Amino acid sequence: MNETATAGKLYVLGVGPGGSDLVTVRAARILSELDVIYTPTGKKGTKSLAHSIIEEYLSPNTHVCTYHFLMKADMSAKQAVWDEVAQNLKEEVANGRKVGFITLGDPMLFSTWVFLLQRLVSQQMTSPSWLEIVPGITSFSAIAAASAMPLAMEDQTLAVIACTASEAVLEQALLNYDCIVLMKVYSRFSLICDLLQRHNLLEHALMMADATLPTEQCWHNLATLSFSEKERMQELSYFSTILVNKNWQLSR
Ligand SMILES: C[S@@+](CC[C@H](N)C(=O)[O-])C[C@H]1O[C@@H](n2cnc3c(N)ncnc32)[C@H](O)[C@@H]1O
Repeated sequence: MNETATAGKLYVLGVGPGGSDLVTVRAARILSELDVIYTPTGKKGTKSLAHSIIEEYLSPNTHVCTYHFLMKADMSAKQAVWDEVAQNLKEEVANGRKVGFITLGDPMLFSTWVFLLQRLVSQQMTSPSWLEIVPGITSFSAIAAASAMPLAMEDQTLAVIACTASEAVLEQALLNYDCIVLMKVYSRFSLICDLLQRHNLLEHALMMADATLPTEQCWHNLATLSFSEKERMQELSYFSTILVNKNWQLSR
């Protein structure tokens, strides 16, 4: 997009992991000033978590535009949606509008926003003047704070990894780092438990689901999980994350 041709601006807003009081002051101010906001929905006709977090900050004059990102479709169908949303954002900005795009947690970490960024900005460029990305509190920092478990200290190493990675990659992360954040646990919980057990890490691991939401649940030491609790994890919330810290002994 041309740097000078437009007075419009795209604000990409990290809205935090769930609690609406974890939206930053900057994001809240921008939300109250937008002409239009793009909010995602996983299912047609439903409101996303990100949308419900920011609703209280929106001006009644802001037009809400809901788009449906396909989570389970094939790559070409997903790419068609990303192309279309990126094109819409470009046109909104070119028409001089203040347009918002919200993402859960932080926008630069495991976020669909990055697929749009790739379509809007050349990777060699610094951030253009028509774009402002507002960082958000990421899920794992909220979980570390809520559970009083440090993420990393001094010369310790920290890996952040999605459990959609291969078993070999996950195992290497568990072996090579002092502290590990395991995101997107949901469907791979039993594999992760087996890996943690194999490396004697269960008692250094905690899991939190729906952090900072009214439905928040924390399993403070995965070594203490009973068989029936493990069985129930088949229906784990999509919003579940495991923190491992080899230098932190969790209470039983
Ligand atoms: C697509 S990623 C989004 C990450 C997000 N951009 C961030 O900064 O946290 C989704 C994953 O983030 C983690 N997550 C997001 N919100 C969470 C919450 N409230 N509680 C626990 N985990 C959460 C889960 O691991 C989930 O599978």
